[in-house]
Amino acid sequence: MSINSRFRPKGRNWPLIWAFVVECGGSTKTTSATSMAVTAALRGYPGVVYDLDSNLSSSLVLGYDEIALKGKKTVLDLLLGKATLDQVALPARYRIGDGYDDDAFALIPNLRVVPSSPDMAGADTAIAADADRNDWFAEILHSYEGDDTVFYMDFPASYGKLPYSVLRMLDEEDSVIPSIKADPKDVKMVKRLIDELERVRDKNRGRRSVPGRPTLNHMLLTGTPTASYTEAAARRATELAEALYASVLLPYIRYSADAKKLYEDEAPLQVILPNSVPSVDYRKVMTHLGFPDLAA
Ligand SMILES: Nc1ncnc2c1ncn2[C@@H]1O[C@H](COP(=O)(O)OP(=O)(O)OP(=O)(O)O)[C@@H](O)[C@H]1O
Ligand SMILES: [Mg+2]
Repeated sequence: MSINSRFRPKGRNWPLIWAFVVECGGSTKTTSATSMAVTAALRGYPGVVYDLDSNLSSSLVLGYDEIALKGKKTVLDLLLGKATLDQVALPARYRIGDGYDDDAFALIPNLRVVPSSPDMAGADTAIAADADRNDWFAEILHSYEGDDTVFYMDFPASYGKLPYSVLRMLDEEDSVIPSIKADPKDVKMVKRLIDELERVRDKNRGRRSVPGRPTLNHMLLTGTPTASYTEAAARRATELAEALYASVLLPYIRYSADAKKLYEDEAPLQVILPNSVPSVDYRKVMTHLGFPDLAA
């Protein structure tokens, strides 16, 4: 299969990189990373979700809890240079029955997940102890040979050496995508992200071995007001985001109590509730980003 050149900017051998990052706990990074990845995969665009967070949230949503991961390789093996992407990435799946046999799960086509490990809490320390580890993601990209369209990077809510090792590999065609709740507190955290990206660009200016140009091309606002969800804070946050960031705002993901089912049922909303408000809204976002349903 030949891959559309828009998924290989500047003729490089690796896919688009979308970094779901912002130093704000519970801001909907994991919900958006997994929802967009599943939406695209169901539409026929292959991808990989990298779970970089020691809380294992996106691993869980894509079918792998700590028990399922016993004895399996994780993103920590990638970070330590002990495994290849194809050895670590697992087929995304969701629970349809009890237990851990294969028949307790159904596969999500076109999607793989690089699972995390609780030991990823020590990722920054591991990079600090061995400066070569800073290149782990660069090595994955340079040796990549597959047909994925996007790498969806789900980050912990902190800036540090691990986010830096990924962010410095982004070019302008990639995107840093803060996914934030319609909450004034979340909107205010975006300024610090912009400062952090500027720091990464400054540090890498003039380097030839890494692109070093992480760019905030898109922003997701989630839990926005609806006819039945009329919180004043959500309205104020939406106005603030429009005033400050109109040029990068994606179509809104409206508030829905369904959203928490992602964790309750350990399955993506797009699969268990394809007609729920967030499922509809994430489809709109992916169409907007150039991933239309080719079968529709
Ligand atoms: N559209 C929505 N409407 C209402 N609640 C939502 C919506 N989307 C996500 N949520 C809820 O927001 C909470 C936080 O989401 P999520 O875990 O994706 O955030 P996160 O940024 O990844 O958190 P962490 O910093 O812990 O990694 C979850 O309980 C989720 O159900
Ligand atoms: Mg998360």
